[in-house]
Amino acid sequence: MPTQTLRWRDDALILLDQTRLPEELVYATYRHVEELARAIEGLVVRGAPAIGLAAAYGVVVGARAAVNCAPEAFCRRVEDAIARLARTRPTAVNLFWALDQMQEVLAANRGRDNHAICDALLEAAHRLFEEDRQICRQIGAHGAVLLRDGSQVITHCNAGGLATADYGTALGVVYAAQEAGKKVAVFADETRPLLQGSRLTAWELMQSGIDVKVICDNAAAVVLRNEAIDCCIVGADRIAKNGDVANKIGTYGLAILAREHGVPFYVAAPVSTLDMALASGAEIPIEKRDAAEIRNGMGKPTAPDAVPVYNPAFDVTPCDLVSAIISEKGVARAPYEPTLRAWVEL
Ligand code: MRU
Repeated sequence: MPTQTLRWRDDALILLDQTRLPEELVYATYRHVEELARAIEGLVVRGAPAIGLAAAYGVVVGARAAVNCAPEAFCRRVEDAIARLARTRPTAVNLFWALDQMQEVLAANRGRDNHAICDALLEAAHRLFEEDRQICRQIGAHGAVLLRDGSQVITHCNAGGLATADYGTALGVVYAAQEAGKKVAVFADETRPLLQGSRLTAWELMQSGIDVKVICDNAAAVVLRNEAIDCCIVGADRIAKNGDVANKIGTYGLAILAREHGVPFYVAAPVSTLDMALASGAEIPIEKRDAAEIRNGMGKPTAPDAVPVYNPAFDVTPCDLVSAIISEKGVARAPYEPTLRAWVEL
C-alpha cells in the first residue's frame, strides 16, 4: 500500500487527513486527546477499523500527557481520555471494542509506574494495529474466492486501506483477487454527502492500479442493469447478531437494487464489527450529522440556506438482502447467527 492511514511516530499519532484527499496528501500530528477526538468527529480519520485504531492510540496520547500526575490522577485522566474518545462517533462498534481493550490494559497494569502503563498501552495499540493488517489480508483471501477473473463489482463509501490500518475489508477482497491473478474492475459509488467513494475509494484504487470508474450514487441501478456486474461488496460499521448491517448511508438502497437485479451483495468486515449484544439492526445507534454537509456539500451552497435537512450518516441493510458476510474467519451465509456466534467464540 503506497500510503499510510495512521502511524505512531515521535511519541505522537500521525493521521493522513482524509478530508483533504484527493486534492492534497497531508499528514497531521496529534498529541492532545481533545484535538484527536475532534479529528475523528471531523472525519480526518474515518472507517470503522481505522477509527478504533486511532482511538486506541488516542488513549496512549492521553496517558502520555498525564504521565507526571500522581497515580490516581493519572488513571483518572486515562479514563477521561477513553470516555471522550467514546463520545466521538456512535455507530462503528470497532471504536468501543478498541477502547474496551485499552481499558482492560489499564486495569491489568494499575499499580505499576505511570511510564510502564504508558508502555503497556502503546504496546496494546501497536498490537491492534498489526492484528488489523493481518485480519484485512485474511478477509481478502476469503473474499477473493467469490470473485472470478474479469469480475466487475460495485462498492459504496470507502472500505479500503484508508478505512483500516491498511489494505481494507471490501477493497481488501479486490486487492486479494488482483494479487491472485484475477482482473477486477470496480464501480465506485461517489457516496454523497461526503464523497468517500469518489474522493477516497477512487483515489486509493488508482494508487493500486485497479481499474475504477466513479458513478453517481443514483447511477447504480443503471450500472447493475447494463454493465454485467458480478457482485456488490461493501464494508460495515456494525453488524447485529441476526446479520443486519449498518454501513454508510446509501448501502441499503444499493442492496435493494442488487436484489432486484439478481446480483449478490457481500459485506466484508472483521469480527470486531460484530455486535452480538444487539438482536437486530433496529438497535444500532445511527449517527446524525450536521445539516451543513448537505446544504453546503461541495464548499458552496447546494441547498437553500435554512432548508431543514435529514442527514443520517449510516443506514441498516436487513440481513435478508445480504448474500454473505466475509470476515477473517471465513464466509457466513444465512441464517447468520450461528456462524457469527461461532466466530466470536472462536
Ligand atoms: O463515515 P465514515 O466514512 O466513517 O463511514 C465509513 C463506512 O461506512 C465504511 O464503509 C465502514 O466503516 C467500513 S470501513 C472498512
